[in-house]
Amino acid sequence: MRIGVFTSGGDAPGMNACVRAVVRSALAQGHEVVGIRRGYAGLLERDFHRGMRTESDGRDPETPLLTARSVSNVLQHGGTMLRTSRSQRFMTDEGQREAAAILSEHGIDVLVPIGGDGTFRGAVALARCWDGRIIGCPGTIDNDLSGTDYTIGFDTAVNTAVEAIDKIRDTADATERMFLIEVMGRHSGYIALDSALAAGAEEALMPETPTDVDALVKRLVAGKERGKTSSMVIVAEGDPCGGAEALHQAIKARQCPYETRVLILGHLQRGGSPTVRDRILASRLGAFAVDALVAGETGMMAGEVAGEVVLTPFEKTWSEHKPITPDWIRLLEILAR
Ligand code: F6P
Repeated sequence: MRIGVFTSGGDAPGMNACVRAVVRSALAQGHEVVGIRRGYAGLLERDFHRGMRTESDGRDPETPLLTARSVSNVLQHGGTMLRTSRSQRFMTDEGQREAAAILSEHGIDVLVPIGGDGTFRGAVALARCWDGRIIGCPGTIDNDLSGTDYTIGFDTAVNTAVEAIDKIRDTADATERMFLIEVMGRHSGYIALDSALAAGAEEALMPETPTDVDALVKRLVAGKERGKTSSMVIVAEGDPCGGAEALHQAIKARQCPYETRVLILGHLQRGGSPTVRDRILASRLGAFAVDALVAGETGMMAGEVAGEVVLTPFEKTWSEHKPITPDWIRLLEILAR
């Protein structure tokens, strides 16, 4: 089997560990791996990672193959050695047909795309005009895919956010201010809720729950009456209030008990060395994706649920919103007193 592996969409810490696992698991079972650079855009430009060439089955001696050494010393790094992109051209029927032709031309039988919902939507579109098989791995800091308890990169992103929030807490405490800290998550509040719980923030505002600014200000006033002198509010970028800046304006128009500053963590959350949890998750899922392809599976995402590796049809990963656990929201309310 010749496997094509690529990363696509927003990069996530642990993507390199996943690529490494795909390459080494495939090689261990006698398969070949082509590293496609820059996601679907790179595929359309035949932009292959030039790993050292080993033996080939001779179908097209020009296609560069990855070796075990091509993925040496990448496990611990954030970003992605294969680079990533979001391709407009691939979104078109013509682009998808061209991508299918390029895959066939280079003898690629199966694909492992590593990315989020946009990547998997692309895989489903490609499968309509290409007869190869596809098993994806969930690589996104957002943790917004059903079919896996956690996505690759989420744990690192939350740890990065918590480290930043802890630091901001020092200055908030010293100056008796409130900080509105915006974290990533266009459609999902996982980063906001987990980082708020882990950093002991007062509030987590997220896309899954309505934001009532009057009620928020009342809770802040009540907190002050209980003796709080500073406050941390974590706002997901996709919160209905429109993010931390918009919330700041809305709060200013009311009787907010704190002088307030805004911090947008932004792409900082996407970088850095992956945590142990992300490295292990990525390694497990990359290897499992290869096993699933060997077993003849297709059209699925490899995930980990309750400690077990499982496959979920691509469409289900994005069509079913992974719910935020209400218990965690209640726990935050209780612990923020
Ligand atoms: O999907 C991952 C993500 O980091 C989101 O949290 C964020 O909204 C988006 O990507 C940012 O995308 P870009 O890198 O294109 O600005």
